[in-house]
Amino acid sequence: MIIAIDGPAGAGKGTLAARLAAHYGYHYLDTGLLYRAVGHQMAERGLDLDDAAAAGDVARALDPSHLAEGELRGREAGERASRVAVHPPVRSALVEFQRAFALRKPGTVLDGRDIGTAICPDADVKLYVTASPEVRARRRTDELNAKGRDVDYERILAEIRERDERDAGRASAPLRKAEDAVLIDTSALDIDGVFRAAVDIIDAKR
Ligand code: C5P
Repeated sequence: MIIAIDGPAGAGKGTLAARLAAHYGYHYLDTGLLYRAVGHQMAERGLDLDDAAAAGDVARALDPSHLAEGELRGREAGERASRVAVHPPVRSALVEFQRAFALRKPGTVLDGRDIGTAICPDADVKLYVTASPEVRARRRTDELNAKGRDVDYERILAEIRERDERDAGRASAPLRKAEDAVLIDTSALDIDGVFRAAVDIIDAKR
């Protein structure tokens, strides 16, 4: 059983995916971490994020089973990730690991941008989780403010819009809903509501 979850930044995919994996006893892969790790290593080595060949080399040398998650979570890492994720050599270097992971038993949940369209086009369940840019920016601002970080809603909204544009506008595996994916708009739902909607869809296919 492979559950593919795609959608834009900040829609709540990660929270949903982790919860579904725990609920069904499946393995969970946050594929965004792979791109974040590539961007982070490029920055650490002082490499140009727009250099596709160099980024491809870093991606091929990456050991995806040993990612230092903590330092990859921030906004800057997300921004770097989306810049290196446009390069075809980066994307192709990461395909094999993701596909092999997807086949783990008894089942897997993968979240990202291109899981249902490119990585696992034959996934058993495809969910496309989204929310308006305003709702996503509001949530992210509240989340960061709650952590004591003084961030500005308008600035977060601009970042989200920019990342949406880059992820959906790139030529290689752009963010889009697979035709056979079920859309879950989380704008008017809380975490429990999103989880229940997803479980209903998945249980109908099991
Ligand atoms: O999901 P997350 O915000 O961690 O992803 C960071 C960036 O990595 C995304 O904005 C996107 O550009 C890229 N990404 C991707 N394909 C995936 C997962 C993430 O291009 N499957």
